[in-house]
Amino acid sequence: MTATMVLGEGDAAATGCPVHAGNRGDERKAVPPAAGETGAARVVVDFAEARRVLRSGEATRQAGFGFELVQRFMPKANRPVLFEDGPAHQKQRSAIARFFAPKVVKTRYRALIEDRADELIAEFRKNGRARLDAISFELAVAVAAEIVGLTSSDRRGLSRRLERFLSIRLDRKAGRMRTLFSVVRSQAFLLAFHFRDVRPAVRERRTTPREDVISHLLSEGYAPREILMECVTYGAAGMATTREFIVMAAWHLLEEPGLRIRFLTADEAGRIAILEEILRLEPVVGTIWRRTTAPLDGAEATPAGTLIAVDVRAANTGAAAGACPHAIDPDRKPADDRASGAMLSFGDGVHRCPGASVALLESAVFLDRLLRVPGLRLTRPPGVSFNDLVASYELRDAVIECERD
Ligand code: HEM
Repeated sequence: MTATMVLGEGDAAATGCPVHAGNRGDERKAVPPAAGETGAARVVVDFAEARRVLRSGEATRQAGFGFELVQRFMPKANRPVLFEDGPAHQKQRSAIARFFAPKVVKTRYRALIEDRADELIAEFRKNGRARLDAISFELAVAVAAEIVGLTSSDRRGLSRRLERFLSIRLDRKAGRMRTLFSVVRSQAFLLAFHFRDVRPAVRERRTTPREDVISHLLSEGYAPREILMECVTYGAAGMATTREFIVMAAWHLLEEPGLRIRFLTADEAGRIAILEEILRLEPVVGTIWRRTTAPLDGAEATPAGTLIAVDVRAANTGAAAGACPHAIDPDRKPADDRASGAMLSFGDGVHRCPGASVALLESAVFLDRLLRVPGLRLTRPPGVSFNDLVASYELRDAVIECERD
């Protein structure tokens, strides 16, 4: 880390465990490279301090996921909810809350999740082989597309176009020609997504509004470009994150027989608790960024204008997590009673993930079905890489096989 300052005790509890005999060591599968891209940020690794930063309301603003770029290209426009702050953000959050209400998740999305999971598992059983990241992306796209309102184009094509766009990486160290080429490609993929998926959805909803994000944005007078950017944000924040998490959870469950049995014999609440524990240890979003807009009190006074990197991995595996913080323990008793479930893996405060319960439900429903498939085996574990922009792991090319139907 090249940070100027580190707050809190962070990863100190990583080694040695006085509670579990034989020391349950590091069970993480995605261990990021040692030197994270934190630049001149103040790094927060302590859970309580991290929570304080994320709950500091208007004293901080979003500074991650390429915020500066979005600000540069959309200085006056309505920005995606992830990039808004203050009253504009509050207004968006209250308006979209109805799409994530527990009753809606339980009725509308559960039925969709079950149907889509059944279809994907049936296809896998027919072929006897599948790429785990590909089927989990299909599921994540189908569910988030329903919430957003991206349902006026063919589903497989939508996943393909989003996947192409989201997988472009702009390597800052690459030469100018390669960077230019990547920029042109990413714009071409973005346009394809716009014309094939977003525009047809917008057209349909202009005449017949529905209960989804696009219809809501249209009622607020958002321009087509602003709607496109919100759709891209949901693609990254809702679809890509859920794909990574499902693969990660499946990987743990497939390789740890005790955990798998426990998952399969638990009720749905128990399955979700196991998934939250996996997500605590393996947060998809490893760093959450903020910039202070006013001086911030805390362990250390922080002046306005400071860039803060909340190290989610460290905060989730520090002393607050309780014994053996680097192990998956469904019976975990956190030392800090405010630390529950996935700890900070869905963020905290005003930007806390609105899709958390949807993501957990779809993972639980899909994995329950998958792990019951006769002869299921992981024949190739995923390759692990890291995406700097979202501080996320990326798990690719995992192959699962089963007895063919
Ligand atoms: C396992 C899956 C997921 C993980 C790990 C995850 C993680 C996160 C995190 C950490 C944030 C907070 C970012 C910050 O504070 O800067 C966030 C925000 C957000 N997530 Fe999720 N997410 C997941 C699934 C979803 C799903 C399924 C949806 C919707 C379909 C969704 C939609 C959003 C949106 C719209 C925001 C921005 C909220 C705001 O800024 O107010 N996420 N997510």
